[in-house]
Amino acid sequence: MKPSFAPSVLSFNHAELGGPVKELMQAGADWIHCDIMDGQFVPPITFGAEMVAHFKAYGSTPLEAHLMAKTPDRHFEAFIKAGCKRIIFHAEATAHAHRLAQTLHNEGVQAGMAINPGTSAELIEPMLDFLDVVLVMTVNPGWGGQTFIPQCLEKVRNIRSLNDRIDIEVDGGIDTETIQLAYAAGANVFVTGSFLAEAESPARGLEALRKACDTK
Ligand code: DX5
Ligand code: ZN
Repeated sequence: MKPSFAPSVLSFNHAELGGPVKELMQAGADWIHCDIMDGQFVPPITFGAEMVAHFKAYGSTPLEAHLMAKTPDRHFEAFIKAGCKRIIFHAEATAHAHRLAQTLHNEGVQAGMAINPGTSAELIEPMLDFLDVVLVMTVNPGWGGQTFIPQCLEKVRNIRSLNDRIDIEVDGGIDTETIQLAYAAGANVFVTGSFLAEAESPARGLEALRKACDTK
C-alpha cells in the first residue's frame, strides 16, 4: 500500500501552530493529526475543537482528531463541526465501539479505533469491517517524544494479515528508522510529532520520512 503521512502538531509551540500546519499542508501531508488529550484518559490536556477549527484556514488537507478522551461519544461532534474528516477514538474508552463507528459514518466522516500498547489486537478484530482506520499506538498515549515500542508491530502484522483494505496507522516514536519497520509490518499511515518538530524544517522532515519509505 502507498504510504500516507499524518503529521501531528503536538510537539510544536501551541501558541504558534498556524506556521507548521500551513507548511505541512503545503509539503503534501495527507492528514493533519490533531492530538486531543482530555486530562482524564491521559494526564495532559492539549487543545480543543475551537483551535482545530482554525487549522482549516491554512489549506485543504483533511484533519483527523485522535481523541485520547475518556468519553469520546461526548466529544466527537464538536470535532466534526470543527471540520475533522476522520475521528479516531480509543477502544479502551468505549463500551460501544460499533455504535460509535456507525454514528460517525452516519455523520459522513471516517471512523478510526486506536489501541494502546497494552491492548490486544484481538479486541479490534470484530470491528475491522466497520472501521476505515485502525490506529496502533507504538508508545503509551499522552506525550510526544517517547521511544517506539517494537513489540507493537506484531499487532500490525496480525491486523494486516486479516484485512488488506483497512488503513493501519501507527503513532508514537516514528522516525526514518522506525517508519521502515512499521511499513514493512503492514502499516500504511504514519503519525509523526517530535521527529518533525526537531527536523531542520517540518517540510524537510516530511521529505525524509517519504524517502525512508521509498528505500524499502
Ligand atoms: C501520543 C500522541 C502522538 C504523538 C506522537 O500520545 O498520540 O500522536 O504526537 O509524537 P511522537 O512522534 O513524538 O512520538
Ligand atoms: Zn496521536
